Amino acid sequence: MPTITVHTAAPYDILIGQGLLQSAGARIRALRPKAKAAVITDDRVDGLYGTALIRSLESAGIEAVKFAFPNGEGSKNLSTMQDIYRFLNESGITRSDLLIALGGGVVGDVTGFAAASWLRGIDFVQIPTTFLAMIDSSVGGKTGVDTAEGKNLVGAFWQPVLVLCDSATLSTLPQENFCDGVAEAIKYGAIFDEALFDLLASGAVKEHLEQVIRRCVDLKRETVERDERDTGLRQLLNFGHTLGHAIERQSGYAVSHGRAVGIGMAEITRRSEALGLTAPGSAAKIERALAAYGMADRYDGNLCDLVPAMLGDKKRHGASLTFILLDKIGRARLHPVPVSEIGPFIGA
Ligand SMILES: NC(=O)c1ccc[n+]([C@@H]2O[C@H](COP(=O)([O-])OP(=O)(O)OC[C@H]3O[C@@H](n4cnc5c(N)ncnc54)[C@H](O)[C@@H]3O)[C@@H](O)[C@H]2O)c1
Ligand SMILES: [Zn+2]
Repeated sequence: MPTITVHTAAPYDILIGQGLLQSAGARIRALRPKAKAAVITDDRVDGLYGTALIRSLESAGIEAVKFAFPNGEGSKNLSTMQDIYRFLNESGITRSDLLIALGGGVVGDVTGFAAASWLRGIDFVQIPTTFLAMIDSSVGGKTGVDTAEGKNLVGAFWQPVLVLCDSATLSTLPQENFCDGVAEAIKYGAIFDEALFDLLASGAVKEHLEQVIRRCVDLKRETVERDERDTGLRQLLNFGHTLGHAIERQSGYAVSHGRAVGIGMAEITRRSEALGLTAPGSAAKIERALAAYGMADRYDGNLCDLVPAMLGDKKRHGASLTFILLDKIGRARLHPVPVSEIGPFIGA
């Protein structure tokens, strides 16, 4: 089974393959023989995979309880956290037990934050079931919830003890959600790996799914190991995201994260190419890669309307905003722009 070990303060393994859901119980039992498990999931994933996971845990001799909340970003809030704390209390979950996040990025972020905060921190296992969660949110230890003040403003860095990416679960993922992950995969290729980019641009992601997951996870692993607390190198992963987040916000979240990031990557690269900061032809390659999956590459409004939303970005440091620009496909760098010059910089 392909395994990637993440060497953060406490190292952990990420396993990638088919059928990991069925062997989850035995693997978790081997890691934490005495722990009871609280599975946290959403109602949709629960209906698809909840029973299989509970069966796997129980047949390995693990006492398991389960809590499911309504699916979707709307549940990623403090009220869900409160419901989870109540459930953990009623279920007698102690520091020697563990949580299991079964679901997409929402379940992973919420469960990770519950694990980081319940009894001041208990172990958790990630079983991501979306492409995005496998290649992005389940690696790197960022957990948290949305509040009235904004998305992901409250949370903690908290690493899982094990991540199981069962690629078989992706067979039920709707195309729209799948595309969100594809956009992030294209991002990894664009900033770090031209060969990965070319493979994705060929439109053949489903034929090479496990290979793509492995490569993306490994690229994120390397970045996170070198910058666990997101103070430098890890910012490169933000390629396409400054514009992307602003597009998401401006649309009232009608445009999904991945599609917004896709547009963000194309827009910023067209612009940096025009300014002579990126190798010619790079933007056209991004446009072709997005088109291979039916994703848009242009913001259908005025870019200057996005500036206020960009200035609210939590990645902003003082008087400048750091954009990620490509030198060429496969190589990226940080490019700080003074706040007063952002409008002209993005061509607004
Ligand atoms: N922590 C991080 O580093 C990080 C990184 C990127 C994104 N995120 C967060 O991740 C979230 C987005 O994650 P997401 O796109 O996985 O969204 P999600 O968790 O909302 O899942 C999307 C939808 O797919 C459903 N679903 C999940 N797995 C399924 C499956 N196998 N088959 C059928 N349906 C399935 C879910 O029920 C949900 O309705 C955002 O909140 C974002 O902020 C976190
Ligand atoms: Zn993203």
